[in-house]
Amino acid sequence: MSADTQKRLAGEAAALRVEAGMTVGLGTGSTAAWFVRALAARNLTGLRCVPTSEATAELARELGLPLSTLEDSPRIDLTVDGADEVGPGLALIKGGGAALLREKLVWEASARCLVIADAAKVVQTLGAFALPIEVVAFGHKTTANRIADVLIDHEIAMPARVRTADRGLVRTDGGNLIYDAKCGAVHDPARLADDLKLITGVVEHGLFLDLADEAIIGTDGGVELLTP
Ligand code: A5P
Repeated sequence: MSADTQKRLAGEAAALRVEAGMTVGLGTGSTAAWFVRALAARNLTGLRCVPTSEATAELARELGLPLSTLEDSPRIDLTVDGADEVGPGLALIKGGGAALLREKLVWEASARCLVIADAAKVVQTLGAFALPIEVVAFGHKTTANRIADVLIDHEIAMPARVRTADRGLVRTDGGNLIYDAKCGAVHDPARLADDLKLITGVVEHGLFLDLADEAIIGTDGGVELLTP
């Protein structure tokens, strides 16, 4: 079974968790897109959907889902979102799609957070996937030097690299830059998260710790549920 099929299974299973009248956080990425499609297909009444990116907003709008904002809907019942890595205790790396800041804002406003992923995302140690770090553009090279110092303190020798695409530097929906840190292994995610947040110029990082309540993992045999 392909990774995309596993993502679809997880997204469809998550859509069944949504009830009419709920305020729902819509994640970003290919797995979250399967959830958004399956949710729209259910035609539930009274939904309010808070997207975590412009891309997800566009998809949800096309599918006729009623959109709201975090300002208008500050209490979200359930957020469903993908992840780049799902580690022990449902510690996550997110931000491969550059939406980590809005994602974390929506997750933290949610009564319940459900992560959906294909089986390859489940790991024993976080860090094989490069950790995304969102940085203010002003003085970003100076900020990158400070990030490198923190990484060295965490025995990560490789400095983070600014994310680029065909048209140059990748910009987030908020206009910031993304630095990706190839950690290899993150031995102390909580300390790394704290240390990165202390750097002026770092807006957010992709470590999502103690936020996910449950994971639905698509596998070749169907879906598996994980809890912290
Ligand atoms: C978006 O910024 C990310 O956090 C995504 O949730 C993550 O990259 C997972 O993406 P896929 O579902 O496309 O693998």
